[in-house]
Amino acid sequence: MTLSIQRIHPVVGTEVSGVSVGSNLDSGSFQQIYQAWLDGGGLLILRDQELSPEEHIAFSRRFGELDPLEGQTVMPYLLPGYPEIYRVSNKVKDGVKQGRQRAGTYWHSDNSHKEYAAKASLLHGIEVPPYGGDTLFAGMAAAYQALSGTMQRLLGGLRCIHDFEKAKSGSFKNETVTDRHLNATPAISHPLVRTHPETGAKCLYLNAGVVTHIEGMTAEESAPLLDFLYAHCTRPEFVYRHRWRRNDLLVWDNRCLMHYAVADYDGVGDRYMHRTTVWGDRPV
Ligand code: SIN
Repeated sequence: MTLSIQRIHPVVGTEVSGVSVGSNLDSGSFQQIYQAWLDGGGLLILRDQELSPEEHIAFSRRFGELDPLEGQTVMPYLLPGYPEIYRVSNKVKDGVKQGRQRAGTYWHSDNSHKEYAAKASLLHGIEVPPYGGDTLFAGMAAAYQALSGTMQRLLGGLRCIHDFEKAKSGSFKNETVTDRHLNATPAISHPLVRTHPETGAKCLYLNAGVVTHIEGMTAEESAPLLDFLYAHCTRPEFVYRHRWRRNDLLVWDNRCLMHYAVADYDGVGDRYMHRTTVWGDRPV
C-alpha cells in the first residue's frame, strides 16, 4: 500500500488512503499525515480503516492525551470496557440505545464549555446509512480572513461566555444533565478569535450549543453580532460536507473548525460510530 494524501476542498479537508492507521504506522508517515491535517484546514478523511477499539484509541493518542469521559454527560453511551470511546448512533437493541442519537446537530466545536477545550475528535464510521447522516465542517480561519479589517479588530477584543447550562435545555435536553455535571464545568469565557497554537492562524471560536452571550454585553445586545457570525462562518464557501463511507475515520481540529451532524436518516438506515476526544489547550 502506498500512502496517498490529497486535498479535496479549498478550505477544509484532506483525504488519506493507502494506509492502515491501526497497524504500526511509522513515525515518518504519521508526521506527514499530521502535517497534512494542519495544512489542510484541520480535517483528515482516512478511508478504509478497519479499526478495533484498541487501535482507534492508540491512533487517537498520537494526537494527544484523551479526555476521560467517565462521569460526563455522555457516560451512558461509552463503549463498555472502553471509557475513552463515546458511541454516536441511532441504533436501539433490545430497547437499549447503542449510542447517543442526534448528537451534534448544531454548529459547534467540541467541549468549548471546558477550560481546556478539545483539540481533536476522531470519529470512526462503523455503520453508515446508504444516504443521509452527513457531517458538515466550517473553516473558522477562512471565515475570519474574509471579514473586513474593522470587524476583525472589533472581534479581537471580545470574549464569549460558553455555558453548558444552555445545552441542558437545548442540544442535551433529552439527556441527563445534573447539577454535578454543571458544577464540574462552570460557565467559562473564551476569546471570540483564538490563535491556533500550531499554525498561528486566527480563527473564530464559537459554539451555538453553549455560547450564551459576549462578555460584558447582554444576551440581547450580543445576539445580532453572534447571529451574523454564525451565518458568516457557515457560508457555503467555508463549508465541506462529508458523505460517509463505511470505515471512514475522520479527524477534526476543534481549534479551527465547527461541525454539524445532519440528523436526516431516521428510517433510512443504521448509523453507528465510535468517537474519541483529544484534550486541548486553553484557547488564547
Ligand atoms: C459529533 O458532534 O461528534 C457527532 C458528529 C456526527 O455524528 O457526525
